[in-house]
Amino acid sequence: MDRIAVIDFGSQYSLLLARRIREIGVLCTVESPDSFELEKDIKGVILSGGPQSVYEDGSAGFPEQLKFLSVPILGICYGMHLLAKEVGGVVSRGVKGEYGLTSVLFENSCFKSVPSEITTWMSHGDEVTELPDGCQIMARSRNGTIAGFTDGKNIALQFHPEVHHTQFGKELLEEFVIEICKASREWKISDIADEKVKKIQRIVGDQRVVGGLSGGVDSTVAATITSRAIGERFTGIFVNHGLMRKNEEIEVPESLRKLGINVEVVDASKEFFHELERIVDPEDKRKVIGRTFIRVFEREAGRLNASFLLQGTIYSDVIESGAASRSGEKIKSHHNVGGLPENMSLELLEPLRELFKDEVRNLGHSLGIDKFLISRQPFPGPGLGVRIIGEVTSEKAQILKEVDSIFMEVLGESGELDKIWQSFSVLLPVSSVGVKGDKRSYGYVVALRAVNSSEGMTASWYELPHTVLRQASSRITSEVKEIGRVVFDITDKPPATIEWE
Ligand code: XMP
Repeated sequence: MDRIAVIDFGSQYSLLLARRIREIGVLCTVESPDSFELEKDIKGVILSGGPQSVYEDGSAGFPEQLKFLSVPILGICYGMHLLAKEVGGVVSRGVKGEYGLTSVLFENSCFKSVPSEITTWMSHGDEVTELPDGCQIMARSRNGTIAGFTDGKNIALQFHPEVHHTQFGKELLEEFVIEICKASREWKISDIADEKVKKIQRIVGDQRVVGGLSGGVDSTVAATITSRAIGERFTGIFVNHGLMRKNEEIEVPESLRKLGINVEVVDASKEFFHELERIVDPEDKRKVIGRTFIRVFEREAGRLNASFLLQGTIYSDVIESGAASRSGEKIKSHHNVGGLPENMSLELLEPLRELFKDEVRNLGHSLGIDKFLISRQPFPGPGLGVRIIGEVTSEKAQILKEVDSIFMEVLGESGELDKIWQSFSVLLPVSSVGVKGDKRSYGYVVALRAVNSSEGMTASWYELPHTVLRQASSRITSEVKEIGRVVFDITDKPPATIEWE
């Protein structure tokens, strides 16, 4: 099958680039500059951006192997600088650099699909200042910086076509892959499943795997693939931490078993609530929940004689935990990634680590997983633990489960649920005065949140009709006696995160 290889020089966008190529229908692999090997199936190579400067000592150079390559190369940002240096051009530190949206003018462009002026996404301090004869400049930014050139075979761009802020970025990549590299569209999402099944069989051999199942898309897809790879040697453990949504501890294991997954249910809710006593700091809570989760797991794994722990970690979890790059800044310790004890005796198996949420959903569809499970809203690993602000107790969890189920019911009945990416309720550690049945009342405040987002990285609050909000508020305050007041969260991400903790 035809393949495009992305050589990763440390850009935060390398996996996004690979995803864009997959969207075109062409297999794409992300390779390290040192271990990359030329193979016949490679129809084109993309050199990614990166944090280094090509003129600095110790910076990654143009990979030796590529000097013998006959297929086209596209260099992006740092990749452009490498190409420029390789052909004898000069790269220097720019006066100001260009960051964010930047207008670019094309002239003598080899891209027919891109108009003469587009807005692009740039992020560079260095720039190409000189090019030898034989190279043709094909684009400049409005500031006059060289934004694109070609040496006749290879192409270099200063901006990032993979970032969605770049206009015609998709068309440009498609033209490079299909017209210039002549790669065939032979790849489909189900190929990922076959590839993963083989890889899991290779890694796991004849050993056993345990995996946490929550009923979320990620763990369900990861478990389905693993079950296909090793059958009964995979055991999915559903840990009831007491922080699931209402009735999930019954419904989720049932639907997973229907998928042919070997599921065991462990009720560890008392243990979790005990560990969470007096813990109020959000990061501490996440860590306590993560640690307890793993401890329960290790116990079960020991009993099952398993050697691997399956996790449904996806790319956004990796990024948000700052694990994707050395310089990445940590935003929250994600349950799937952070909080794992260092001395964990199980090896991690993370088959979805480089995939984006919507790709995981599509993969789930291709595996024949029920629409009900695939299109479920994302639910955080620490569950209601991060939706109960302050100390988490089983009483508060019970209250929040009732509130949340009413909110979801109202959204479902009004037809709004299908239009929302994620919606939930948050129990605040604030009590408020009210009047119920002519008597003074004093009850908890609950916040409702509804957001739309494509990958959870950014989000905008959803404008729920007032009638729906009114119905939710009136049902919640009358059906859950502990609640005295309902508020609606109108904050985007950024600046807020989707979850409150
Ligand atoms: P934030 O709150 O970081 O959430 O804006 C982005 C998306 O991730 C979900 N989320 C988690 N998912 N483990 C998960 O698997 C976690 O620890 C976790 N924390 C947040 C959140 O619900 C939203 O969809």
